[in-house]
Amino acid sequence: MIKVLVATDKPFAPVAVKGIRKVVEEAGFELVLLENYSSQDDFIKAVADVDAVIIRSDKADKTVIDAGSKLKIIVRAGAGYDNIDLQAATAKGVVAMNTPGQNSNAVAELALGMMVYYVRSFFNGKSGAELMGKKLGIHAYGYVGKNVARIAKGFGMDVYAFDPYVSRQDIEKDGVKWVGTVEELYRTCHFISLHIPANSQTKQSINYALLSNMPSPACLINTARAEVINEADLLKMFNDRKDFAYLSDVEPSNKAEIETNFKAKFFCTPKKMGAQTEEANINAGIAAARQIVKFINNGDRTYQVNK
Ligand code: 3PG
Repeated sequence: MIKVLVATDKPFAPVAVKGIRKVVEEAGFELVLLENYSSQDDFIKAVADVDAVIIRSDKADKTVIDAGSKLKIIVRAGAGYDNIDLQAATAKGVVAMNTPGQNSNAVAELALGMMVYYVRSFFNGKSGAELMGKKLGIHAYGYVGKNVARIAKGFGMDVYAFDPYVSRQDIEKDGVKWVGTVEELYRTCHFISLHIPANSQTKQSINYALLSNMPSPACLINTARAEVINEADLLKMFNDRKDFAYLSDVEPSNKAEIETNFKAKFFCTPKKMGAQTEEANINAGIAAARQIVKFINNGDRTYQVNK
């Protein structure tokens, strides 16, 4: 019997697991659940006799992929697949997929939620500010970026976007101002929301040269990946610009230092929370299960990312 492992260090909501189980069992497959596991060894052991794996930010590295002697497919229930060793998967003939768009509204709502929390002085009773009329720059206009634009427009924000992979027409038809260069986006906007993936081109690309050109007051929101930030430059921004704030759903490695010295200008979720809603878990988890069933039964490779 085909075995599908759900390996989630940060578990899906129970209602999503129920939905995943239904899809898997209706296909005549068996579901194996590994949640809240304490070490990578547990993942390596669990993958040994399964045909398919569903993960979130769990690390599907070479050791995991090599341990899966029957493994045929890994689906990242979510957008970013920087946690899968694609080279190792391809070398072993394992198909890797993601589930684009399925959790994007949840991430976008968190981005806006953190912005409101910050401009309202972390709800501490002091007078704050409003988002209406303020310039928001969306750095990468994919599924999450589009949702951020939609919600921000509801707040009455003045929304700009930069994305070299999306046409000017596609950005402008959403009532968003198209920006031709990343430098212009940062020069123009008081708020910048990051939605770039972590890859060899983007890692550490958010640096002092970009950030220091932001108008005052400046606020960077990161619901993407910690790796895209140059952390030494982030610290330099905090030191040089008293108006600079950083709101993050992905923990910087220098979090303790930032928290101690710049408490009023910094917020970081204790655990990545962007996609942590029942709705996003249901959407992404069930999409992942369906993709596995379609791949095993019909060889459907839609959403394959290691082509
Ligand atoms: C994604 O890439 O889909 C998001 O970062 C969500 O990640 P998570 O599933 O680990 O919460």
